[in-house]
Amino acid sequence: MTQLGVFTWGVFPYICLVVMIVGTLYRYQDDQLRWTSKSSELLEKKLLTTGSMLFHVGLLFVFAGHVAGLLVPIEFYNALGISSELYHGGAVVLGGLSGLVTLAGISILLYRRIANSRVRMNSDFSDYVSDGLLWLVIFLGLAFTLGYSLVHGPYEYRTTVGPWIRSVLTLQPNTTLMAGVPLLLQVHIALAFTLFGISPFTRLVHMYSIPMGYMTRAPLLYRARYGYGTGHAATTRVPAPPRAQPQQPRPAPVYDDEPATPEPAGRFERPPHEFLDSLDPVAGSGSNSYSRR
Ligand code: HEM
Repeated sequence: MTQLGVFTWGVFPYICLVVMIVGTLYRYQDDQLRWTSKSSELLEKKLLTTGSMLFHVGLLFVFAGHVAGLLVPIEFYNALGISSELYHGGAVVLGGLSGLVTLAGISILLYRRIANSRVRMNSDFSDYVSDGLLWLVIFLGLAFTLGYSLVHGPYEYRTTVGPWIRSVLTLQPNTTLMAGVPLLLQVHIALAFTLFGISPFTRLVHMYSIPMGYMTRAPLLYRARYGYGTGHAATTRVPAPPRAQPQQPRPAPVYDDEPATPEPAGRFERPPHEFLDSLDPVAGSGSNSYSRR
């Protein structure tokens, strides 16, 4: 293995992972108020909804595929009797499908960021870097799964990339495992680590919060300032409703001396204390009396 190979597969992944962990911790304690993927839904909603949905759903499946293909040893599949053909056939169909959905999603999001002037004006450099790098990593992964595998036949990464990534995670990097890996896959993996390394300095930090609450929380409701409820699109400026006129002073209320409905005759024939006295067995004879003295 060349010196570049030793650096790329034995040192570079750790640089990226250390920057990712330390950078994330630093940002968490230093800049928590901006720990978010700040919403641009107000600026453009249609493309965001479609792109974001495709990207995130697709990515969940891509993630599951990476765990199954790289972290689960090939011996496990052999023990279950799953042949290499069956495994790779499934990986091409399921991985290809989820990769295509993810690529469609990130392409829409990237297009929106560049083509929509309102979103563009609210984007910074890190947004283009993270979206662009995501697009490249996903495109190369998909190009490998569909392009390389279909042209050259399935490549058994479960005996090279899989054990290598596990050796990195157990802090015993075995760089020789990566020597014969096709260049397309090598670039995919090196760029994926670069993506991990820059993540603390971009809006990607929101993924470390595992924001699953989004799925169940009540949606944010944005209402147009003008024209809400008139059936006009929010972009059509409808004149604001006339301002309420200052209120005229109210006429002073007129109270009658007489009650509106006369009391029924005889209801208060006796004053209340006399009535209570009549209920009291010792009324008038002792201190228990309610009588007025
Ligand atoms: C440690 C880093 C990574 C390694 C070692 C890795 C490795 C691989 C391998 C071996 C494949 C081929 C799978 C097959 O043909 O069955 C692949 C495909 C793919 N990778 Fe990665 N990858 C990494 C990170 C990423 C990241 C961060 C993303 C996305 C953001 C990604 C997206 C994809 C996609 C879309 C495919 C196409 C097949 C599929 O959908 O699973 N990879 N990757």
